[in-house]
Amino acid sequence: MNQPLVLGIETSCDETGVGIVRGQTLLVDAVASSVDEHARFGGVVPEVASRAHLEAMVPTVERACRQAGVRLQDLDAVAVTSGPGLAGALLVGVAAAKALAVGLGVPIYGVNHLAAHVAVDIVEHGPLPEPTMGLLVSGGHSNLLLVPDVTTDIRSLGSTIDDAAGEAFDKVARLLGLPFPGGPHIDRVAREGDRVAIDFPRGLTSGRDVRRHRFDYSFSGLKTAVARWVQAREAAGEAVPVADVAASFQEAVADVLTRKAVLACREHGVDDLLIGGGVAANSRLRALAQERCDAHGIRLRVPRPGLCTDNGAMVAALGAEMVLRGREASRLDLPADSSQPVEQIRA
Ligand code: KG4
Ligand code: ZN
Repeated sequence: MNQPLVLGIETSCDETGVGIVRGQTLLVDAVASSVDEHARFGGVVPEVASRAHLEAMVPTVERACRQAGVRLQDLDAVAVTSGPGLAGALLVGVAAAKALAVGLGVPIYGVNHLAAHVAVDIVEHGPLPEPTMGLLVSGGHSNLLLVPDVTTDIRSLGSTIDDAAGEAFDKVARLLGLPFPGGPHIDRVAREGDRVAIDFPRGLTSGRDVRRHRFDYSFSGLKTAVARWVQAREAAGEAVPVADVAASFQEAVADVLTRKAVLACREHGVDDLLIGGGVAANSRLRALAQERCDAHGIRLRVPRPGLCTDNGAMVAALGAEMVLRGREASRLDLPADSSQPVEQIRA
């Protein structure tokens, strides 16, 4: 099989994603998001997400096939996110993928969501250098991953010990009266602000913390520091300089994320850094990452924003890579595993 045609399904959070990849070429990336249904709750509600996946699944598969000009019968394999993620949401995708695999008589690949975030850059910028360093930052995860082979070998160097980076953006946005999800709003508001106006703390970057948590992140102290700062201004009857707070908070997050990612590259002799996840859309994170990578001779890869957020293309991309490299398929009774460890790339 030269150029396997693989359909990928992603339902780990609030996006129903269906992507189709031929070999290393993306044919279509169809996404139906339930984010608007969660907005009034200020966060993703698992039950609402599961139901939305159920309703969106068949129409999204049909739309993907139509747009790609592909018939289901032409597929060589089906890939699906088996974890980590919301249990009920994952189940919808896994059940749909099993139905397709059985109906079409093709192999099924249950794949790790984090590995898929890395693999998607194959269809965007070509084959991954081996090893690649992956920095994944979204509402659900903040991970630093050493990736010698995205289909078989991923090592976790660090992750957040409390809030995910996107979660911190969302919580601080709420504090500043900005809508959910807050990341894009902070990004926008911060453009008018001064990023050195307030010196917010950089979690796990000094003293004993660095020795114990060299490549881990922590954002809950930062969030609390922002809350205290805002409260103090309000208590004093002063106006809150929203743009300055947003810019200074964003700077603290971007600083820590890029500082540790570059350090990880240098310590592990890795020349390529890939940033993925919804927060990779952040303009300051991208600019600072580019600046620091340039200073250290590291090549930076960031997929376009639509491929950084959760989508089906990333799952199809990893599935196709597994087929291309002759990796064994999953068993048909593969489980949805809400806490699938990152080292377990295939279920
Ligand atoms: O990857 P994603 O769509 O979903 C998961 O959480 O898995 O990421 C969503 C997160 C949200 O927390 C959102 O606020 C954040 O990504 N985000 C951003 C930006 N765009 C999205 N954070 C900072 N700056 C942005 N421009
Ligand atoms: Zn994700």
